[in-house]
Amino acid sequence: MRLLFFPFLDFSDTQLQHDLAGKTILITGASYGIGECLAEKLAETQAHLLLVARTEAKLIDVKQRVEAKGGRANIFPCDLRDTVAVQALLAHLQQCSGGIDIFVSNAGKSIRRSIFDSLDRPHDFTRTMNLNYFAPVQLMLGLIPSLVARRGQVINISAVNVLLIPAPKWAAYQASKTAFDQWFRCVSPELNVRGVRTTSIYLPLVRTRMIEPTQAYQHLPAMQPEQVAQLICKAMLSRKRTYAPWWLMLGQMASVLGRGWWEVAMSHYLRRNR
Ligand SMILES: NC(=O)c1ccc[n+]([C@@H]2O[C@H](COP(=O)([O-])OP(=O)(O)OC[C@H]3O[C@@H](n4cnc5c(N)ncnc54)[C@H](OP(=O)(O)O)[C@@H]3O)[C@@H](O)[C@H]2O)c1
Repeated sequence: MRLLFFPFLDFSDTQLQHDLAGKTILITGASYGIGECLAEKLAETQAHLLLVARTEAKLIDVKQRVEAKGGRANIFPCDLRDTVAVQALLAHLQQCSGGIDIFVSNAGKSIRRSIFDSLDRPHDFTRTMNLNYFAPVQLMLGLIPSLVARRGQVINISAVNVLLIPAPKWAAYQASKTAFDQWFRCVSPELNVRGVRTTSIYLPLVRTRMIEPTQAYQHLPAMQPEQVAQLICKAMLSRKRTYAPWWLMLGQMASVLGRGWWEVAMSHYLRRNR
């Protein structure tokens, strides 16, 4: 499966431990899936982990597993859709840590729903925008001074879909993920010249609870969250700007050149399956 997505995930664990020793790393969405696996992987380092999500019991469980491996973690239960709670979180983070070296913006929610099933559900669009766009923007605004002071790094966990032709039924998720991807890429050059490294990771399908409700995904190839955790660690070491599956550029070209064909094919498919 690695060959299909990211063939070169290897790095030296000794190097990781060396480079991250004494660093403070904020991970949103650390209670499940990718964020949970990342926290477990980073437990092997001497980094101080700040773990954010809503489910306190799961965060406590993750913290205990980190500590059992000799790592250090603090938890911050927070609903990131709530701007007042995010402001309080930022103040709390400032008190509890000397500053943030690496921010992994990972918390996210996906919704797959036909627009005709969404007519009385405007909240689908506000909640995805609140979590996938406004929350990381608000966090970044609060964290930038500390990231600049420490010449830190921000890693945005994005999706391949934001760079490909949009798919029907994914309007809420794709619009919100694309919004933050664009925002992040707009501010990156300004941050880079002040010493803050920015990394966008474009993920294909990952086998987490996020894709469980979508029947069609159950038989498609997908990365494991442990592999994504490894990829994020690699990004912390390399501090490269972008990680994407090797075939994404071909997909982007096909999205431009094959747009007309795709729209005709999609209309046929939707007419048959409505
Ligand atoms: N899975 C995929 O196929 C895939 C593909 C491309 C990109 N991604 C991206 O990868 C990231 C992680 O997704 P995942 O696959 O690991 O999904 P997941 O297993 O569902 O984990 C999502 C994380 O976000 C947290 N979260 C959700 N709503 C929140 C809220 N309102 N406030 C605070 N935290 C919240 C969840 O914790 P609580 O529920 O405890 O709050 C959980 O820790 C997302 O940004 C997603 O867009 C995933």
